[in-house]
Amino acid sequence: MKRSAVPLFVVALLLLTVLAACAPAAAPAPAQPTAAPAAPAAATAKTYKDMTLCYPQLGAESDWRTANTASFKETAEKLGVKLIFSDAQQKQENQISAMRACIQQGVDVIALPPVVETGWDAVLTEAKNANIPVIVVDRSVSADKSLYASHIGSDMDIEGKRAAAEFNKMLPNGGNILELSGTTGSGAAVGRARGFREALNPNIKIIDSQTGNFTRAEGKPVMEAFLKKYAGQVQGVFFHNDDMAIGAIEAIKAAGIKPGDLKMVSVDGTRGGFQAMIDGWLQADVECNPLLGPQVMDLGLKLMNGEQIVKEALTDESVYYPDKAKELLPTRQY
Ligand code: AHR
Repeated sequence: MKRSAVPLFVVALLLLTVLAACAPAAAPAPAQPTAAPAAPAAATAKTYKDMTLCYPQLGAESDWRTANTASFKETAEKLGVKLIFSDAQQKQENQISAMRACIQQGVDVIALPPVVETGWDAVLTEAKNANIPVIVVDRSVSADKSLYASHIGSDMDIEGKRAAAEFNKMLPNGGNILELSGTTGSGAAVGRARGFREALNPNIKIIDSQTGNFTRAEGKPVMEAFLKKYAGQVQGVFFHNDDMAIGAIEAIKAAGIKPGDLKMVSVDGTRGGFQAMIDGWLQADVECNPLLGPQVMDLGLKLMNGEQIVKEALTDESVYYPDKAKELLPTRQY
């Protein structure tokens, strides 16, 4: 018998290959589930640790200001806020340069305690264009409200009115008084002077008003000059802050005037003011609270998280009197 030239196992292999090619295609294996595309991460709320806050402080002219600076530094340290602090030495141009440097750096929030009311429009516009919100702190600005996010501080007009009410009580039959006013053009001096005049009884005359720039060093010579010029003609003095009162009291003592001879009212409620009440020099001290760090940083964080904030937050304040001064002095924080 003749043997085939192609071995049998090769024929079988070819047959199997043809059959496999004709068989219906096997169903694909079920695909392994893949991770769904990540949903866009929900925006996580910013915390204090994300905040860089710029505080171009206006100066170090008074105990009030020292307490205000401490409030910002201590609060930032406690909350983990990065604070960019500078001291403008009572010069608006220094505050503006410090703000511009902060805008360049791209800080999250600027808190501005303006030395004077006017002249802020350009730099506030620059901050706004850079999307950096500005919180005006303590004194006010005259700029359009759309240029800043919020103002937080004292109602200076009310402080002036409160001081006037004290003179109205102490001088019911009228009299002549002097005024040592704060930095010319500052929201604090403008508001206190305005409120004071609005509420003062017409039988009380302000016979002179000079600035002592909110400092002890300038308060003393202004008072010396007043005492020379108006010796025997005045019944009272209104001081726009405690530091000027303390400087002036040195001049008053040197002139031989005794506590109570002149009716005197000041503003701030610092420890120095409390001591002047205990010593009988001041008959009232109108409160102005410098401890604004926590509230400003709270507003700053809300702004960073796109929350609504109040346009104006005015501090609730009162008037202090000598009868409680001794008891309260140890509790004063500034
Ligand atoms: O703007 C607040 C005033 O500024 C305070 O009365 C004064 O003491 C400070 O210098």
